[in-house]
Amino acid sequence: MARRDELVERLFMASIGALELFHVYLGDQLGLYRALRDHGGATPAELAAAAGVAERYGREWLEQQAVAGILEVVDDGGDDGATRRYRLPDAHAEVLLDADSLSFLAPLAQGVVGIGGTVPKVAHAFRTGAGLPYPDYGADTRRFIERLNRPMFLGQLAQEWVPAVPTLEERLGAGPPARVADLGCGTGWSSIAIALAYPGVHVDGFDLDEASVAQANGNAEHAGVADQVTFAVRDASDPSLAGQYDLVCAFETIHDMADPVGALRTMRALAAPDAVVLVADERVAEVFTAPGDAIERFNYGWSALHCLPVGLADPPATGTGTVMRPSTLERYAKAAGFTAVEILPIEHEFWRFYRLVG
Ligand SMILES: C[S@@+](CC[C@H](N)C(=O)[O-])C[C@H]1O[C@@H](n2cnc3c(N)ncnc32)[C@H](O)[C@@H]1O
Repeated sequence: MARRDELVERLFMASIGALELFHVYLGDQLGLYRALRDHGGATPAELAAAAGVAERYGREWLEQQAVAGILEVVDDGGDDGATRRYRLPDAHAEVLLDADSLSFLAPLAQGVVGIGGTVPKVAHAFRTGAGLPYPDYGADTRRFIERLNRPMFLGQLAQEWVPAVPTLEERLGAGPPARVADLGCGTGWSSIAIALAYPGVHVDGFDLDEASVAQANGNAEHAGVADQVTFAVRDASDPSLAGQYDLVCAFETIHDMADPVGALRTMRALAAPDAVVLVADERVAEVFTAPGDAIERFNYGWSALHCLPVGLADPPATGTGTVMRPSTLERYAKAAGFTAVEILPIEHEFWRFYRLVG
C-alpha cells in the first residue's frame, strides 16, 4: 500500500508540475513576466493593460502564479483580489526572462507545450513504427531548443569548451584563418558563438530543417557575423558534402540523425589533417540503470516523444533516441572509420564532449 500511495502522490505532484509549466508558457509567450518586471509589479488591471490580455484571465494567472510560489503578493488589496498587487522576485526574473543566463529555463515550458501537441501523432507512430519529421514538432519545439542552448553556446563554447581541447584554441585564434563545419547546427548559435569569439574564422553550418536554417541566417545577421557564417539546408550524412575544415563539430544532434554513422563518416571526410572532430551529446549514464537519476529521466522523457520519432523519420533509420550512451557513439564512430573516441575533460551537467580520432 505504501508503494501504491507513493506512486499516487508522485503522479499527483507531476500533474501539478505539468500544469504549472503550461502557466509558465503563458507567462513567457504572452509577455506577462516581462510586464510584471518592467512595471515593478502589477494588479490584474495593470497587467491586463500592460500585456494586452483580458483582465479576468490575467487575474486568474496571477493568482495561480502566486499560489505556485513563482510570484509574490506585495499588497493584498483587501477586496477579493481585484486590486491585489503582485511582483516577480528578481531571482525568478533571471530564470524566466534573462535569455542570456545559464539559468534561463522558461524555454522548458515551451518544449513541453511543443512536444505535447504532437503526442497524438506519436501515439499513432507507436502503432505504425514510422517516424515523425522534425518540422512536425513546430515552432515551439524549434524555439525551445534554440532558447535553451543559446546561453551555453554564447557563454561556454569559447570560454570553456574550446580551451579544453588541446591545440584548438590556438588553431581558431591565431595563424591562417580557420574553417569550421557545424553539422546539425539548428538555428545557428554554435556557429555564431564561434564566429563572435574568433573573428578570423569562417563557419559553415548545415542542417536538414529549412525553418532552422532560415532562423540561423536571421540570427547571424542580428549578431553581426553574417559575413563569417554560411548556413545551408543539407543532410549531414550526405556523402557529397565536401570541404576541408580545421574543426568539424556536431552539438546535440547525432542522436537525432537517421544515419548517425553516415554523418560521422561525413565529419571524418570534412576533417583536414590535424583537424579536431568534436561531438557533444547528452550526458546519459554509461549503462542502462533503473530507476535512473534526474538526468536520465529527463533524457528518456524526450526520447520516445521527440528524438526517437525524429530519428526514425527518414528510413532506413538507425533509431538512436535521446539516450545515446558513450559505447553507442564509440560503435558508430568506429563504423565511420575513426580509430578512437576520447571523452574530453569538460564539466557539464547535461552534455558529454567527445573527440573523435583517426
Ligand atoms: C536538438 S537539435 C540541435 C540543434 C543545434 N545543434 C543546437 O544544439 O542547438 C537537432 C538538430 O539536428 C538536425 N538534424 C537532424 N538530422 C539531421 C541530418 N541528417 N542532417 C542535418 N541536420 C540534421 C535537426 O534539424 C535539428 O536542427
